[in-house]
Amino acid sequence: MSAQRGEFGSRFGFIMAAAGSAVGLGNIWGFPTQAASNGGAAFVVVYLMLAFLLAYPVLMAELTLGRHAHGNMITALAKVSRNGTQRGLGTLVGIVGIFTASLILSFYAIVSGWMIGFGLAYPLNALGATDASTWLSEFSFNRNLLLMLVFMALTMTVVAGGVEKGIERWSKRLMPALIVTLVALALYVLTLDGAAEGLAVYLVPDLSKIWSTDLIFNAMGAAFFSLSLGVGTMLIYGSYISDEEHLPTLGAQVALVDVGIAVLAGFLILPAMYVAADRGVMIFNEAGGLLSEDTLIFVVLPALFDSMNETGTVLALAFFGLMSIAALTSSISMLEVPVSFLVERFQWGRLQAALVATVIISVMSTAIVANFDALFGLVITISTRYSQPLLGLALCLYAGWVWRRDLLLKELAKNEPLIEPTLFMKWWPWYVRFVCPTIVVVILVRTIA
Ligand code: PFF
Repeated sequence: MSAQRGEFGSRFGFIMAAAGSAVGLGNIWGFPTQAASNGGAAFVVVYLMLAFLLAYPVLMAELTLGRHAHGNMITALAKVSRNGTQRGLGTLVGIVGIFTASLILSFYAIVSGWMIGFGLAYPLNALGATDASTWLSEFSFNRNLLLMLVFMALTMTVVAGGVEKGIERWSKRLMPALIVTLVALALYVLTLDGAAEGLAVYLVPDLSKIWSTDLIFNAMGAAFFSLSLGVGTMLIYGSYISDEEHLPTLGAQVALVDVGIAVLAGFLILPAMYVAADRGVMIFNEAGGLLSEDTLIFVVLPALFDSMNETGTVLALAFFGLMSIAALTSSISMLEVPVSFLVERFQWGRLQAALVATVIISVMSTAIVANFDALFGLVITISTRYSQPLLGLALCLYAGWVWRRDLLLKELAKNEPLIEPTLFMKWWPWYVRFVCPTIVVVILVRTIA
């Protein structure tokens, strides 16, 4: 059955696809400035620890549940359930997961469309097409709608190609391209005036800033988004892993690539911001903090590129190309959630499933574009601050409490090279049962309070 439903052809392919899901806009527009404003290298170390203390165990819950069932989230939760109530609740969790993945994609596609727009605007401007260039880089209903649709079409094309020929093939091409571009851009920017100051802000540790509990819990919440947890993307990717593979190692590699690229992005973003400051661009907000997120990407960096003439055009093309790639490898994993459900539940072909899911999500996205002020922030808050941690909690409870311990250990021990249980096998089942749910509940309580 597994061959029929698709499987990653290689370990490298899986790591690129799962890391592609994890590495997204968040790594580049959020992490570096957050680190710089909150203790620099000290924050980087805390974040690394949090990623491994909270996000990695939840990632493992998803991968293990998925690989065990070789099916989507609803099938996976039903498979480990021991009675009708657990199965019913599992179905509910699975449906909320599919809905949340679609909701995240519906706002993500809008922002990703802007990346494509800015990426095209620079070369068009250089070629003299200033009207088109301005249209692509200015906020308007028509631009937002068109670029969102273009991005959704790209996502659909990859997903419709299937696990190996679509998702894996494109991840194996795009992720190395992303890493090479990121390194090349960072190396270039580091040679410019002002870069050293940015590097110092990023790297000089300030221990006094990292003990704020607010900061730690925000970072934990961010780690959930960063590793694409809760909504079933990692679960479905896990379901396409062959039984031959050793899951704890694969999961650790994915988490390492995700954190590694976030850290690497800091070597580009912070120096670039201080190079911009050196050229007179404002990089601080009124409260004195570094500008971040959309203002960083669509105001500060474009101001830097504008100050550099032809070089600026090349840099802008490379940078927005990089952002578009990061966005695309994440969005394909989100679209795969509803698509795999439609394929498995209704035996639809992939093309039909991808088409239907894309149309539904594009309609949701259009509603956001048409009511941007009212809906954009709201959808982000509901899907990432509430729904993702809640779903993560449910997944921990299914892996830790519902799934029979001996069967869980059997799944983990598949292809375990050692006869003796490893450290991971001794600790993780206990950890995912008690520690993870407690941490997630605390995060949720703090979000609500
Ligand atoms: N991990 C992605 C990022 O950091 O941008 C976002 C994401 C992807 C969230 C897939 C959720 C998801 F299912």
